[in-house]
Amino acid sequence: MAKPLSRRKFLAGSLAATGALAAPHLFAAQPDPASRQATGVKVGEVTDTSAIVWMRLTASAGPNVKGKDFPRGKPIVRPKDVRIEDLRGACPGAAGRVRVRFSTNADLKGAKMTDWVDVTARTDFSHQFRLTELQANTTYHYAAETTGPNGKPAHAALRGSFQTAPAPDRYEDVTFTVISCSAFRSLDHDDGFHIYPAMAALRPRFFVHTGDNVYYDSDILYATGVEMARYHWHRMHSLPRHVAFHLQVPGYFEKDDHDCLQDDCWPTGKNDRVDPLTFAQGLSIFREQIPMGERTYRTQRWGRGLQVWFLETRDFRSPNNMKDGPNKTILGKDQKQWLFDTLRASQAEFKIVICPNPIVGPDRVNKADNHSNAAFRTEGNELRRWFQKNVPDRFFWINGDRHWQYHSVHPDTGLHEFCTGCASDRHAGGTPGENKKIHRFHRVRGGFLSVAYRRADKRGAVTVQHHDVMGKVVNEHVFRA
Ligand SMILES: [Fe+2]
Repeated sequence: MAKPLSRRKFLAGSLAATGALAAPHLFAAQPDPASRQATGVKVGEVTDTSAIVWMRLTASAGPNVKGKDFPRGKPIVRPKDVRIEDLRGACPGAAGRVRVRFSTNADLKGAKMTDWVDVTARTDFSHQFRLTELQANTTYHYAAETTGPNGKPAHAALRGSFQTAPAPDRYEDVTFTVISCSAFRSLDHDDGFHIYPAMAALRPRFFVHTGDNVYYDSDILYATGVEMARYHWHRMHSLPRHVAFHLQVPGYFEKDDHDCLQDDCWPTGKNDRVDPLTFAQGLSIFREQIPMGERTYRTQRWGRGLQVWFLETRDFRSPNNMKDGPNKTILGKDQKQWLFDTLRASQAEFKIVICPNPIVGPDRVNKADNHSNAAFRTEGNELRRWFQKNVPDRFFWINGDRHWQYHSVHPDTGLHEFCTGCASDRHAGGTPGENKKIHRFHRVRGGFLSVAYRRADKRGAVTVQHHDVMGKVVNEHVFRA
């Protein structure tokens, strides 16, 4: 793994890596020593009128970079004599107060502010503010401010910005990016994954993490218990490139098996890797560490041209080992009906489902965890046929979870599926191989996906591109209205 670079070298390296000149503040490698937000700020669930701002108060400005490290091979249970705060990447929380000041002016003139809120160990010293009554299609600048208990001392703030979504009745050009499967053991740079500066260079309006944000059951040190699970999030979200990215790009976060509990898990399944952590604790830690609204499945318009659906594939699923049939489900009855109803009602020019898991594949024959596997064939067929009949064009599916990049088209229903691939080359693998009948593109490497909606001559078009980890385009497909 590359050594951490000095700030100057880091800047030059990042720009050369992405091949584009991005705003220098995106690459601040070192936190302000007077700040106390080692795990950064995350903005999520942006709509045309609202956003959620996630904050967390920490004991130090940055993570414990000199902490104890363990080999990246087979994970082990944390030895009893090693405290969590002494691990590499640990970011212990601290009690105190947090608030957000935000304004449409870069200098925060005329800023509105939330009340101060006390943070305690109960929420891992985090808090989520819901900002409302925002203007559509507008850039908001913010200062995430913290103090010690009772207001003293005041720390240095973290500054960031985000843009609200355009109103549903206005056409607006929008670019966003999608990623998956970011295992700490597969980092390709000590300051964070290459894909973060590479995505930032495209200046996306938002990004989507399709899940496996962290790997409780297979990364360096098992997440055996609530505090170790929280440590997995702290270690990942305190990496300087990730902090810098999240201060500039809002996200929609989905969860999958490894950031819920363990490989291919379901609510009533056996937990044999991260005991005593439970499925229910996994769900609540996800919502604690990520800015998220009331529902784990939701949809959002990005102007008249685009509507995006974010699906939930763990909370409601049947056991993977149940016999396939009409009662076996991944989405659950309510989510499936909601998906059909909202797709049918949508007036958007293009409709995109972003799901943690695939529905076209193909996947390995021994897998039994998603709609492209025989184990969920009945619901898979139901969904694919429904899409063919009700959204025959200007509709496609994006997924993560699989550790290779592809574009595939279902042979019977014509459904297009784009898989992001995993976050780094080191993590890539697992494909059953290229299938010429289904694949239009197949690449066993890491990277990310970008989606760009553009309108010209009264017609919209969506360009989907696969990128390698440095941002280079390795595949492109265009849908035209
Ligand atoms: Fe994964």
